[in-house]
Amino acid sequence: MSIFQTIFKRRTIRSFKQDAIQPEKLKKLVDAARVAPQAANLQPLKYVIINDEKLLEPIFKTTAWAGYIRPAADPQEGQKPVAYILILVDSEIKKEGYDVDAGAAVENLLLTAVEEGLGTAWLGAIDRKKIKELLNIPDKYIIHTLVALGYPGENPVIEDEKDNSIRYYKDENNVLHVPKRKLEDIVFFNNKIV
Ligand SMILES: Cc1cc2nc3c(=O)[nH]c(=O)nc-3n(C[C@H](O)[C@H](O)[C@H](O)COP(=O)(O)O)c2cc1C
Repeated sequence: MSIFQTIFKRRTIRSFKQDAIQPEKLKKLVDAARVAPQAANLQPLKYVIINDEKLLEPIFKTTAWAGYIRPAADPQEGQKPVAYILILVDSEIKKEGYDVDAGAAVENLLLTAVEEGLGTAWLGAIDRKKIKELLNIPDKYIIHTLVALGYPGENPVIEDEKDNSIRYYKDENNVLHVPKRKLEDIVFFNNKIV
């Protein structure tokens, strides 16, 4: 699979098979994140792999899913993530402007997951205070976002948006459709911006 094909194959997954993920695989995803482009090469990010079964349900309770169609796309019992990777910012290295660094790193992680046959959901709607307590995260770390993981239990599809609506939806067969803005609507050459 080319990088381009991998990029198109990646979708946010919100239903997971319950097979465990080998710890080495999870570390490989962090390895991919580790080498992403980083402003001034500061590399302020740290990663916590969460795969202890005792922690999975408490962490799940800190998450919120698919705001446009809640609760239709919430992971159901037996479909919840089997691991998480928490993205932390070390505030002793960088205190602000780390979103771009995290974006580049997490996208590397998500694409490597696709290559490994894994599904991911990158989650920002999380209870950061609760996660800090649950995992005893020292104060110097800012909780950025959380990536939920598992082997995919659904096959969402992308499509060109219609009527300027970017809201994802589920069809009568419970398939998630993810509208993307059309290429011709977002790309311009030189001075041809409209
Ligand atoms: C920074 C960020 C935060 C997100 N937070 C959530 C979230 O809290 N819950 C959720 O279900 N999806 C979350 N998503 C996933 C988006 O809803 C998803 O990327 C979008 O609908 C497009 O679908 P796609 O990833 O399949 O292209 C987040 C995505 C990003 C980039």
